[in-house]
Amino acid sequence: MRKKFYVTTPIYYVNDKPHIGHAYTTILADVLARYHRLMRVPTFFLTGTDEHGQKVARTARLGGISPQEQADRTVVRFQELWQRLEISNDDFIRTTEVRHKRIVQKVLQILFEKGEIYRAEYDGWYCVACERFFAEKDLVEGRCPEPGCGREVERVRESNYFFKMSRYQDWLIEYINRHPEFIRPDFRRNETLGFLRKKLDDLCISRPKKRLDWGIELPFDRDYVTYVWFDALLNYLTGVGYLEDEERFRTWWPASCQLVGKDILTTHTVYWSTMLKALDLPLPETVFAHGWWLVGKDKMSKSAGNVVDPLSFVERFGADAFRYFLMAEMPLGQDANFTAESFLRRYNAELANDLGNMVNRVVTLVIKYFGGRIPEPGLTGCEENQLEQVTLDAARGMLKTVEQMQIHSGLGGLMNAIREGNRYLERKQPWVLAKQSNLRELATVLYTAAECLRVVSGMLYPVMPSKMAELRRTLGIEEQPDFDNITRWAILPAGAAVRTPGRLFPRIEEAVQMTGQDKPESTVQSPISVSGLQPIEYADFQKLELRTAVVVAAEKVSGADKLLRLEIELGDQKRQIVAGIAQHYNPADLEGKTIIVVANLKPVRIRGIVSQGMLLAASDGQRVRLLTLDGDLPSGSVVR
Ligand code: MSP
Repeated sequence: MRKKFYVTTPIYYVNDKPHIGHAYTTILADVLARYHRLMRVPTFFLTGTDEHGQKVARTARLGGISPQEQADRTVVRFQELWQRLEISNDDFIRTTEVRHKRIVQKVLQILFEKGEIYRAEYDGWYCVACERFFAEKDLVEGRCPEPGCGREVERVRESNYFFKMSRYQDWLIEYINRHPEFIRPDFRRNETLGFLRKKLDDLCISRPKKRLDWGIELPFDRDYVTYVWFDALLNYLTGVGYLEDEERFRTWWPASCQLVGKDILTTHTVYWSTMLKALDLPLPETVFAHGWWLVGKDKMSKSAGNVVDPLSFVERFGADAFRYFLMAEMPLGQDANFTAESFLRRYNAELANDLGNMVNRVVTLVIKYFGGRIPEPGLTGCEENQLEQVTLDAARGMLKTVEQMQIHSGLGGLMNAIREGNRYLERKQPWVLAKQSNLRELATVLYTAAECLRVVSGMLYPVMPSKMAELRRTLGIEEQPDFDNITRWAILPAGAAVRTPGRLFPRIEEAVQMTGQDKPESTVQSPISVSGLQPIEYADFQKLELRTAVVVAAEKVSGADKLLRLEIELGDQKRQIVAGIAQHYNPADLEGKTIIVVANLKPVRIRGIVSQGMLLAASDGQRVRLLTLDGDLPSGSVVR
């Protein structure tokens, strides 16, 4: 067990509002912090914003405001989002704060006096997007060599200050080889070692004020400001009291886990390591580089118009579901795809169905047959023991996967325990036991299932803090989950008062699909805006079998105010489809209409009804109009 856990996120540039990439790293850090708190490991979680540099200065200039104003306006968007996402950071550092600037200047002075910094002519190239200097030889076809960047670079020829990074090259290679846990996953370690195979240059760490004055002034030369990365990386030290509060600093440094995206691996494993070495400070235990979220296989970018805005997603589906999806979907270290389809699939299958149904089943029966009190279990048999085993294994597995940075697989194990719980209920048929008035066995079954839910909800708590607290209150548990309790069985006290289950994860109707979107709605600025659409190949379009169909009958789906069930004639077939148009059409008005359907969609179950296709309709965001035929053609006709 660790003695302490200090986790950091990169600090985010304030040139633009946060996107899903920022949200992901911060949620990941939050989840790690919460798991460690659950294990009663003293934890410190730091995040913040990177506010200096050319990128922010340029955005401010374009907006006609000062860089400080740009930072002040944008930082609140990050802070608000973190609140909405229930991020439990212990501190938030802004690089324009005095507490940070003071220490950066002290560090510069120390290194200058130690002879680690010298002045020389710089002749090279600068990428503003990456805020990185590159030598001519390192450019790729004259552009920024960073994977995924490739933007134009600017020529820089000026007198500057340099940090003697190159002298640490051999030491760093040896350090990395001797500390396999320092750079994770393994293939990222190899990437850094690959980078270190070329001769390391010294690091230019200044910008003359006459070219850029938005930065921290060099204490030994007032005509210069510090290079933004040199300033930013030091936040990990200033955030825990370096050179100001020795005790606090000794408590937390070295960091246990520094999370970064794969694009900022070099800055964190080469620049940062050598800076720490020059300061005689130990290196962080681990720098962990995660992969990127792609949107429908593409890189997210403003110009492609596919940037996922986490806030609108959270507003629609809730912070917990969003957090769960991001953690469950991305195998740590690799890239992953963000689509509305995969979100809905996971949400409906795992949260609404598996978890939501099990809670409803158990609590409803406890209310009906035991007056709302968790019953005392009777004798348990091998099926109960098996569920206990699977659940506790999943719980211990979850903690192991946190240590191994394999969170998605730990979550998979927990969901598997829930599915096992549902299978147990299906085998035991508590509703039949109730009808047979076999209350003794019913008590055992409900208690066992409730225990499974108690353990799993405790283990899922760091990922979905609000919803799992709600679930636990439903089961009659008021206190916060605790490591001891959630790795043991038979803890739930008989007699605990359950509550009527609310709709923990209401099913999301397939209405999102109706507009034909394959992306979360939040990525589309407005339903009638057509800019930024993603082109597809003709071959992709050809995969769709669009056909005419005649509506034979239509009716409302009971309990779903948006859905209609339509019986359609499609050539020589009769089919039924479920469509989210109940608020726009009366069932009776549809009968006899010829509509257009996607005839080769895999059937899906919506509200328990199999839908064998999807109709086409247009929408401006408010109104919905069905696509119909301008003339007479038989049903089943091909639409091209
Ligand atoms: N300010 C620097 C970090 C300084 S740390 C001392 C910076 N900021 S950033 O705002 O551009 O990016 C912050 C993080 O967001 C990076 O870790 C980056 O990898 C991550 N992401 C940006 N786009 C992303 C995705 N599409 N998916 C996942 N993470 C991505 O770099």
